[in-house]
Amino acid sequence: MLEADRVTLTYGATTALRDVSLTLAPGSRTALMGPSGSGKSSLLHCLAGVLVPGHGQVLVDGQDLTGLSDRERSRLRLERMGVVFQFGDLVPELTVAENVMLPLQLLGTRHAAARSRALELLGELGVADVADSRTGAVSGGQAQRAAVARALVHEPRVVLADEPTGSLDTVNAEAVLDAMVALSTGIGATLLVVTHDNLVASHLDELVVMRDGALDGAHDAALGARGVVG
Ligand SMILES: Nc1ncnc2c1ncn2[C@@H]1O[C@H](COP(=O)(O)OP(=O)(O)OP(=O)(O)O)[C@@H](O)[C@H]1O
Ligand SMILES: [Mg+2]
Repeated sequence: MLEADRVTLTYGATTALRDVSLTLAPGSRTALMGPSGSGKSSLLHCLAGVLVPGHGQVLVDGQDLTGLSDRERSRLRLERMGVVFQFGDLVPELTVAENVMLPLQLLGTRHAAARSRALELLGELGVADVADSRTGAVSGGQAQRAAVARALVHEPRVVLADEPTGSLDTVNAEAVLDAMVALSTGIGATLLVVTHDNLVASHLDELVVMRDGALDGAHDAALGARGVVG
């Protein structure tokens, strides 16, 4: 279970999140939508433990991330989460396959096994042909699919993805979303996808909408009433 409890986050004078509470049930599949600047990435970064809120708690299986050191949060993220960042964070000097292998290798998987798993996943996402290209030399859409593969390769409990199909055309966006939903469902992971795209959101079960740093009350209440999110 992943939970934000009354999370407030400010950047200098800007309040990006005000008192946001959200519970993602184990295995739930949720779309996070809302206008540009409404706080979607900020919330995802808090849930991933990349940013620590000024107030409130982020609970991963009951453990409060905000009480951990940077190192402990990184470790917990590696062990339990897969994150696709909005602006990418693949290592440009490494190949696509090497980037995807990283989480497995950091967790102790040997090179050959990590590579074979990475290639399998890249194949499922339709980018096996660029496995041995440096990520700095592939297209935006190919890099995005590599980032999706890297987020799933170590079979995390939680997958958080920020606009994972933003650089893809409609056909490829749907294919990647389908693969992402199928793969995360296959491992029983909880999935949260930030998107501007209604078509992408329609591949998920739940919808959370942000407005001006807060969860939109109408959607929140509707989802809460269904007892899954909120
Ligand atoms: N590093 C930063 N420093 C200062 N302000 C920031 C920073 N990152 C985000 N903000 C501000 O915080 C608010 C929320 O930003 P956030 O990136 O969470 O929005 P978003 O919903 O992800 O938008 P988009 O759909 O454009 O990605 C905005 O007002 C933004 O300008
Ligand atoms: Mg964003």
